[in-house]
Amino acid sequence: MEKLVIIEDNQEISNQLRWGLAKEYEVFVACDRMEALPLIKKHTPKVITLDLGLPPDEAGCEEGFQCLEEILQKTPSAKVIMITGNDERENALRAVQCGAYDYYCKPFDLPELKVILKRAFHLAAIENENSRLQSNIDLHGFTTGGIIGTSPRMLGVFSSIRKVASSEVAVLITGESGTGKELVARAIHELNPRKSKSFIAINCGAIPENLLEAELFGYEKGAFSGANTRVQGKVEYAHKGTLFLDEIGELPLNLQVKLLRFLQEKTIQRVGGREDIAVDARIIAATNRNIVKETETGAFREDLYYRISVIHIKLPPLRDRGEDITLLANFFLRRCSHQFGKKIHRFSPDSVKLLESYEWPGNVRELENKVQRAVIMSDSSIIEPEALDFSLKTAKEGIHSFANLSLRDARDMVEREMVIAAIENQKNNMAKTAEVLGISRPTLYDLVKKHNIAKFLEQEPA
Ligand SMILES: Nc1ncnc2c1ncn2[C@@H]1O[C@H](COP(=O)(O)OP(=O)(O)OP(=O)(O)O)[C@@H](O)[C@H]1O
Ligand SMILES: [Mg+2]
Repeated sequence: MEKLVIIEDNQEISNQLRWGLAKEYEVFVACDRMEALPLIKKHTPKVITLDLGLPPDEAGCEEGFQCLEEILQKTPSAKVIMITGNDERENALRAVQCGAYDYYCKPFDLPELKVILKRAFHLAAIENENSRLQSNIDLHGFTTGGIIGTSPRMLGVFSSIRKVASSEVAVLITGESGTGKELVARAIHELNPRKSKSFIAINCGAIPENLLEAELFGYEKGAFSGANTRVQGKVEYAHKGTLFLDEIGELPLNLQVKLLRFLQEKTIQRVGGREDIAVDARIIAATNRNIVKETETGAFREDLYYRISVIHIKLPPLRDRGEDITLLANFFLRRCSHQFGKKIHRFSPDSVKLLESYEWPGNVRELENKVQRAVIMSDSSIIEPEALDFSLKTAKEGIHSFANLSLRDARDMVEREMVIAAIENQKNNMAKTAEVLGISRPTLYDLVKKHNIAKFLEQEPA
């Protein structure tokens, strides 16, 4: 039962209220400020009614205002309803300006007062829930890295991050694509004294093998044709800071040897150079490959693996994070609707069900993209399943959803998806879309009509 504190010097009235409200609330009564404040401190009620004319100033209102001020100072979230005489409307308005939630003019009409109280409790509950969600985020989401999560597995990850952040040990982060490996690497950097220095990321999988060595270690003038000046590599740039070796599983064996040497000796040589250059960098590596297995097959050097994985943080796939899915979805919803200036408040219950049951092969990145797309597509303040566009792979079924479809329906589904994806990829350019799909423009327009996908176009087809 919710607690309600009534501050009222007229005993007859307070008794009346106490009995009248006893069924709905646990009622506590105080007859003046001295009595009220300790009572509020003890019970922290969400809602309080406060008589404006309290002793010793029954005829005036200063004592009432004083009391209001002190209540709000101690419990700013309390909903205070001012009780006033009929001729005190002006004071009542002043009270509301001072932070009272509402006012009520005597004489009491019990049913009417009950409605006002109910509304106040309802609002308090909503605010409470909001701040609970917010504090969950503040507590566990490193606001610097923006990592969101309250699931047990993510709490484990957070605790590992905190433990390793203040140290200098090498950390290996593994997890499927889109699980937040880079985000975690940045959070570790941000929580380390090195945060004032650079966080240098290099994607070992994105740079052609013949350029990677120079990219990592730099080169001297004349080291190869085209090397017109001396250039520092990423490793050197990370001096005093953090070096993030992304996709380390892609590192070719000859560079694995060179990286290992750097990790052992803490010095590097630029390509074409002989000077040993001391570099002090904290190493964080990431991969979505099963690197342990690759050490067994010889694709990844075991000695290097041990060097980079003093601590191993395993990021769980999104589908194993339970409640985090909706938490993250709501976080992205808020962020995107703010970004695109749209007033979209929530997901419909059906949408939530879909989000929770989907497999999320692309993990958090996929969720982020889906929500973003839904915000752009949605015309209402609530996101319905259509906007999330799970049409092809609905809820944990993936390709198996074809099992119960006729060949024709399956073909239609794929056709529809392909057209939508192509239009998106070509940014609504219908001529190009037709070209990539290998069909004529009239055929494309026919398909748009057939599959009712005009609504996916941000503007009408040109
Ligand atoms: N827990 C999380 N809270 C908030 N945002 C997240 C979270 N995890 C991931 N993201 C967001 O999802 C996207 C993908 O994250 P990130 O790039 O760190 O993943 P990754 O594991 O490095 O992916 P890949 O293997 O594809 O390189 C980013 O936009 C990131 O901000
Ligand atoms: Mg990454």
